Amino acid sequence: MPSACITGVGMYVPPRVVTNEELRTWYDTSDEWIYARSGIKERRWAEEPASTAELGYYAAKEALQAAGKSPNEIDLIIFATLSPDLYFPGSGVLLQHRLGLETTPALDIRQQCSGFVYGLSIADQYIRTGTYRTILLVGAEIQSTWIDYNPEGRTVGVLFGDGAGAVVIEACEGENRGILSTHLYSQGAYAMELCVAEPSSATRAHTLPGSYGMRPYMNGKEVFRHAVQRMGEAVQVALTHQGWRPDEVDLYVLHQANIRIVQAVAEFFSLPMERFFNSIHKYGNTTAASIPICLAEAEREGRLRRGDKVILAAFGSGFTWGSAALIW
Ligand code: ACO
Repeated sequence: MPSACITGVGMYVPPRVVTNEELRTWYDTSDEWIYARSGIKERRWAEEPASTAELGYYAAKEALQAAGKSPNEIDLIIFATLSPDLYFPGSGVLLQHRLGLETTPALDIRQQCSGFVYGLSIADQYIRTGTYRTILLVGAEIQSTWIDYNPEGRTVGVLFGDGAGAVVIEACEGENRGILSTHLYSQGAYAMELCVAEPSSATRAHTLPGSYGMRPYMNGKEVFRHAVQRMGEAVQVALTHQGWRPDEVDLYVLHQANIRIVQAVAEFFSLPMERFFNSIHKYGNTTAASIPICLAEAEREGRLRRGDKVILAAFGSGFTWGSAALIW
């Protein structure tokens, strides 16, 4: 049975930097509050015209180049996003067309901040079963178009940024590396704790506090509490499955929602923060893109080397969460 190996990583963030200071144009907030509560200093916003699929395309091109592959060698595209270009169809087909492909299958998944880990798990299964040999997995988001710019939107609005990350995953034999295990979870009981309720196909009235409509709603404290617990559990299950001690792992890449969540996990496992790769200070929460963006930067900075033990973990809206253990 082949293993699934990440053979190319790419990322793209729009050039426009939006500092915490600039957010004061819309919100009663401060750099001190945002940085102390989340670890974010700035984020990127896409400028018009831009689309999630387009951001994904730039990241995909870089990942394909790194893997030495051309688009027509891709057997399957998996596209993870909570901010698709259209209500339907998904952004995967738009990326497929943009890559100049005719009939390559494109699968969209909607697991929000856990999208990349879920996508990795799907790719792993297809490769292990021999169905496909080369898969392009993309996480991309444009969140600056759905952020609530009204004063009451400040708690959520300051956290999110735009960006894209991509990996090429290939079947590899006899290389002693690749995805070792993935661990997925969800808990729909908490679906309404972090959501954008409209556009909606539901005929019943939504039960969100106030009338949020198309504006994002987040019960921040409740989400934070669950995120710390579930992210820790997700890391633990991957460690246990591999029989690894926490300090044996070379690099942890956790979804970038709030630096305090990463700090809590590091503390729980008595690990120094240097063992975790973070980019939230530069990009904010880029949802499905945050882990592949970190992977791309970690590799660029020499923090990821062939043979390294790596654990990825994510938690997000749904609630959904999960982890992956791999040898780089
Ligand atoms: N600037 C200044 N003050 C603010 C801001 C802001 N941007 N936002 C809120 N405040 C105020 C609040 O009004 C409140 O004031 P009050 O005490 O007078 O009522 C005070 O600051 C404290 O607000 P809290 O909401 O209690 O702040 P908290 O410490 O909980 O931090 C945060 C908020 C950063 C949102 C945190 O709850 C969090 O990170 N939650 C989890 C986020 C997450 O993990 N999301 C999952 C992934 S996202 C996805 O899947 C789409």
